[in-house]
Amino acid sequence: MYLDSIIAIDGPAGSGKSTVARLLAQKLKFDYIDTGAMYRAFTLKALREGLDLSNGEALIALAEKTELDIRQDAANGIKVMLDNEDVALLIRTPQLTKKVAHIAKVGGVREVMKRNQRRIGIRGRCVFEGRDIGTVVFPEAKYKFYLDADFNERVSRRCKELQEKGQDVLFKDIDRDLKLRDRKDMTREIAPLLKADDAVYIDTTHLNIDEVVGKISGYIK
Ligand code: DC
Repeated sequence: MYLDSIIAIDGPAGSGKSTVARLLAQKLKFDYIDTGAMYRAFTLKALREGLDLSNGEALIALAEKTELDIRQDAANGIKVMLDNEDVALLIRTPQLTKKVAHIAKVGGVREVMKRNQRRIGIRGRCVFEGRDIGTVVFPEAKYKFYLDADFNERVSRRCKELQEKGQDVLFKDIDRDLKLRDRKDMTREIAPLLKADDAVYIDTTHLNIDEVVGKISGYIK
């Protein structure tokens, strides 16, 4: 049964879930499915089409005719396929990051994303990372984890990550952005970020990546 080999990892930005999910997938030889990248890729398409992001109906209609997929690439990275174009390198800009929340709060868009994600999951052996995987997309997954960390630690991690990518960042700007994203993720009406009742909660504040991967691996049989 494919749900026995679905691992759901949810949590807020900066909780370490992306790195952990990628390394865990590598270790288990599972596919790594970054669902945030799917929301980002769709946001890119809506912006390219010049859509008004407050027009939910138009967004849903566009989502219905958009092909989204995540593929693994030979170098242990992922390809984020938007209508057969790999947009992995185009979806992490601060400008786009600010716009994704408009898309993520539209119920009809989330329904299309869920459908896409469930289609991908049917092949099994996947580590899914996101905000609503354990609660909405795969509530029946065998393994569910919720990663979290203290707010200041999450801000520091985000700063470091962006600095390593060569971006000029200030702690206070990231602090403000993350507060805003947390609020939007946690208070949206549809599929807000929540720990599923049966998810294992892991506070990663004082753990390094290998320790988190080790902890999760301990639960997987
Ligand atoms: O994980 P990320 O920062 O790449 O996510 C980008 C955005 O997409 C973020 O605003 C939260 C949203 N998202 C979501 O609503 N549901 C998911 N399963 C994944 C991401």
